[in-house]
Amino acid sequence: MPAIAASAPGKAILFGEHAVVYARPAIAVPVTQVQARVTVSARLRAPAGEVMLLAPEIQLESRLDALQPEHPLAIGLAGVRAALGITRFPALTIRIQSTIPVASGLGSGAAVTVALVRAVAGFLGQPLADEQVNAIAFSVEQTHHGTPSGIDNTVITYNQPVYFVRGQPIERLAVPAAFTLLIGDTGVQSPTGAVVADVRARWQAEPDRYEALFQAAGAIAQAGRYLIETGRPDSLGPLLDNNHQMLQEMGVSSPDLDRLVAAARQAGALGAKLSGGGRGGNMIALVTTAAADSVRLALTAAGAVRVVSTRVAADDRTPTV
Ligand code: PMV
Repeated sequence: MPAIAASAPGKAILFGEHAVVYARPAIAVPVTQVQARVTVSARLRAPAGEVMLLAPEIQLESRLDALQPEHPLAIGLAGVRAALGITRFPALTIRIQSTIPVASGLGSGAAVTVALVRAVAGFLGQPLADEQVNAIAFSVEQTHHGTPSGIDNTVITYNQPVYFVRGQPIERLAVPAAFTLLIGDTGVQSPTGAVVADVRARWQAEPDRYEALFQAAGAIAQAGRYLIETGRPDSLGPLLDNNHQMLQEMGVSSPDLDRLVAAARQAGALGAKLSGGGRGGNMIALVTTAAADSVRLALTAAGAVRVVSTRVAADDRTPTV
């Protein structure tokens, strides 16, 4: 059997992170410039059921049965077994590679799961429907982030800009006019689960203040959707800036993120904000083609360890298998 590979993109949240956990709307877009890629091949001389996992970037080289059951790869593969109705896999080697920085708000965990599930099911000749892939990726997020909204696994599974409300059917966003984002990485890892748990504690301590912030962030996501879907993405700047201020008030920004956001604005970005869980990880800046180079240079000068440029368009979908 020939080897089978599947890839999944990273993602960036445009509006509404954290508020989305509390059922307010949010907007996220795939970032195809960074990818997780999983390759599955047969192990010809190994006994049936022996699955070898290789992920050199995280120094993982392990048999599946040696992983803890709550390991993200173990949960993802258990999900594939359940979805396919099989009790064990044939002898496989599964290679995992990713250019998505870990714990940085770009969806690295969800992308690895989506690529893993598609590659393994594809190798077995039983590709799964997007809804099944999405459900398995969500179950992994639940074990690792406590109370995820589901936005990461959704935008990554469907590889389309989405308007997302927890518990509601997925709405793909129409993007009649494409736009460009620069994504600046602080280089500081910040696990999402810890920040989400901290916001929950603050919300419990000050429910009225946090409800008002979540409500305002949700209203921004709604307004952002309107501007995007009516072909006016160049007007999104003030909404990005306002959303960043709300995230600061929620206590999830950091001096590094604020510095990159300020540098992008000063260099001519139309607007900028942190993106994802916060306290580290990445920020995004909306740029015109004319300002892109100077904003990129300013982000690097302000300490960004890397800057990724991504163009958001409705037909961004790239083949995943
Ligand atoms: O995985 P991250 O860091 O992009 O964060 C996801 C966005 C949050 O709203 C903070 C959490 C969630 O589950 O929606």
